[in-house]
Amino acid sequence: MLRIAVMVSGGGTNLQAIIDGVKDGTITNTEIAAVISNNADAYALTRAKENGITAMCISPKSYESRDAFNDALLEEVNKLNVDLIVLAGFLVRIPEAMVHQYSHRIINIHPSLIPSFCGVGYYGLRVHEAALKKGVKVTGATVHYVDEGMDTGEIIFQKAVEVKDGDTPQTLQRRVMEEAEWKLLPAAINMIANKQEYK
Ligand code: GRF
Repeated sequence: MLRIAVMVSGGGTNLQAIIDGVKDGTITNTEIAAVISNNADAYALTRAKENGITAMCISPKSYESRDAFNDALLEEVNKLNVDLIVLAGFLVRIPEAMVHQYSHRIINIHPSLIPSFCGVGYYGLRVHEAALKKGVKVTGATVHYVDEGMDTGEIIFQKAVEVKDGDTPQTLQRRVMEEAEWKLLPAAINMIANKQEYK
């Protein structure tokens, strides 16, 4: 059984796709041990609680320094004893010590076809604004392992999504979520969960 922690910052629609996937059997052999948010108001925390999943907030604002926050985050994650950390719209940079300790055990969903529209400053609606500004006809989403860089880790899955005439950042974001993100992230977790070592 693969034990996962899901890290979130906002609405948590990707978290919901994971919860639904575990319930409906799209994701097998997987247990969501906890949901961690850096933001106490994140609706994702409500989604976790409504589904009986341990929900916790670890905010940088509660610590004197970024180092103190990083240490606390790693300590809490270590206590959970998880096999995989899933970043589902988590907007805080993962501490380097955590990246090293959980090498190839942290995955992230990014709402573009990496290496386009990724890296520092490309998050949330900004990604879709940049895609529309550039005039690309196809965008999509990527699930990748997390390394020391920003959106630079090994790619696991990608899915293309059409950009349509008249798209706004909001309509494009929604299509990328529906057609790509909500499918790719559960698929990646299911793939990892069903590797020999977690059977
Ligand atoms: C998603 O678009 C994800 O790819 C990005 O942030 C958004 C989070 O949405 N990194 P949600 O909180 O899962 O609804």
